[in-house]
Amino acid sequence: MGLEPPYLADRQQQLLRFTRFLDGFPDFPRNVRVTGLRGVGKTVLLQRFAALAEDSGWVVVRRELGENLQDELAFGLALVEDCRQAIERSSRRAEARHRAGSALHQTLEILGGISVSLAGVSISLKTPSSQSHRRPVLEDELFAALNTTCIGARSAGRRGVLLSYDEAHLLRDSSLAGRHSLSALLAAVARAQRERVPVMLILCGLPPLTENMARAKSYSERMFQAEVLDALRPPEDGNAFIRPLAESRRPFDPKLAEFVLADTRGYPFHIQFYGALLWEAVPWPDAITVEHFRRLRPALLEALDHAFFDARFARCSRFERRLLAAIATDGEATDHRAVVQRLGVGHDLAKSAIGRLVSKGLIYRPERGRLAFSVPMFGDYIRRKVRVDG
Ligand SMILES: Nc1ncnc2c1ncn2[C@@H]1O[C@H](COP(=O)(O)OP(=O)(O)OP(=O)(O)O)[C@@H](O)[C@H]1O
Ligand SMILES: [Mg+2]
Repeated sequence: MGLEPPYLADRQQQLLRFTRFLDGFPDFPRNVRVTGLRGVGKTVLLQRFAALAEDSGWVVVRRELGENLQDELAFGLALVEDCRQAIERSSRRAEARHRAGSALHQTLEILGGISVSLAGVSISLKTPSSQSHRRPVLEDELFAALNTTCIGARSAGRRGVLLSYDEAHLLRDSSLAGRHSLSALLAAVARAQRERVPVMLILCGLPPLTENMARAKSYSERMFQAEVLDALRPPEDGNAFIRPLAESRRPFDPKLAEFVLADTRGYPFHIQFYGALLWEAVPWPDAITVEHFRRLRPALLEALDHAFFDARFARCSRFERRLLAAIATDGEATDHRAVVQRLGVGHDLAKSAIGRLVSKGLIYRPERGRLAFSVPMFGDYIRRKVRVDG
């Protein structure tokens, strides 16, 4: 996962847009939301974004979010830690460090103070009556951290600070649970950008991220460029398979790509997987032929099931599997109502199982009343399983 591919196919437009966004700061601040199913190349694209930003003089901090950061305090402290890292990276060169020494030192002290103040959030929560009026507001603390970090980074000669958060669909606000980390983050970044602070935010994750963000702040739609990644488009889907072979001077049948694309439907992870297995199965320096492909195909499919699908399916209860099968009946997406009908159970039971499958990252709601798989070709897999297991 996140492995740099030998040839990055079909991402020119996203890279070009991103470069323009960097150049637009601080007059035209823009953030990026990257969404897509499992294995479509989100993490790899973030790596490229980070490299472009670094080349243009930005400091980049990257983080993979986890369930543990749902908690406001944990999230706040993580963001301050990211800011601290940004400051340490701002001045890698000795000369910059020397020039900005005292400013950076001061920034780190302010960040330390913010951590202490954030910890006060949890203390004050424990004693609500006496301290509630003095409780720090998460959004204000985040803004202060971003602001001071950007000032520090600028003093070390950097153009700005880029925060890049992967698996961000795991950040879900809940009024019921009193968690508002995502709203606080969006509000803090929006305020910083209004005040011309050069901070840019990338949020990347599975498709539910879009809905989580819209719920957290309705204006987030206008703050972010949406990059929706999907299967690679022709002819780049073929190039993703062919170019690495051609460049490594491995001979192959020109018809081979057609067969690989028919099975993988242009999904990047699947293309890489087929490529790697074919490469290894046919001894060097023999040409890889369509005949090899035909012979190896059952083993390829089995290995793909094993690597990509089995573990995900195994994490589901018997009822959840029935629910997945009820979605798979119609392909890769279907109507919510049809699923409930097929299961023949009450609405509440179906709803809670759907909720669990959404949090496991297996399904999502592409639009009202619809359910779809977050894992490409999962429907195919489940239909194969149902045929075999009965
Ligand atoms: N544009 C591309 N061209 C060719 N191969 C790609 C491309 N993007 C990604 N890949 C390959 O696809 C695989 C999956 O990429 P990546 O891990 O970035 O996907 P992802 O969307 O982050 O998946 P997940 O949702 O599981 O985190 C990697 O092996 C990567 O090298
Ligand atoms: Mg990823």
